[in-house]
Amino acid sequence: MLDTLYKNAVVSITKNYVNQQADVPAAAVAKDVFKAMKDGHYHNARLIDVTGRPKNKENIARTDFEKAAVEAIRSGKEYVEEIAFVDGRPILRAATVVPAVMEQCIICHGKREKNLLGTIIYELPIK
Ligand code: HEC
Repeated sequence: MLDTLYKNAVVSITKNYVNQQADVPAAAVAKDVFKAMKDGHYHNARLIDVTGRPKNKENIARTDFEKAAVEAIRSGKEYVEEIAFVDGRPILRAATVVPAVMEQCIICHGKREKNLLGTIIYELPIK
């Protein structure tokens, strides 16, 4: 559900507001929304790079799960998940593929191998 929400928002913003490289990318908007969700203690989400050449170096994989997810997505997987415990509480970690879904993505990111740009990493509390 969250993945559909975020991806539709990014595509819609790009479609309606982004025509050139100087425009504010939807990724920046997504990051603001991710931060609001994190500050509200709802869930964590991060948009990260799988190309090896990110627009912003902040967006490279850092955790073991993120690194493993990048490898899996690069090798063709569309979704990866694991259950883990943080401070004794169960969480779901999930990673979904972010392809260059429209022409505009390429204006800024350039053509990439297998059309892959990134992955969104989610961390959600579960019961
Ligand atoms: C107007 C230029 C622009 C367009 C169009 C654009 N992006 Fe980006 N994208 C950026 C910039 C700049 C960043 C870095 C944002 C940041 O972290 O502050 C970024 C970050 C990303 C990242 C995180 C990895 C990285 O490279 O830093 C992904 C994945 C991504 N964009 C996917 C997409 C997709 C998919 C589309 C098309 C729906 C798209 N972008 C369209 C400029 C753009």
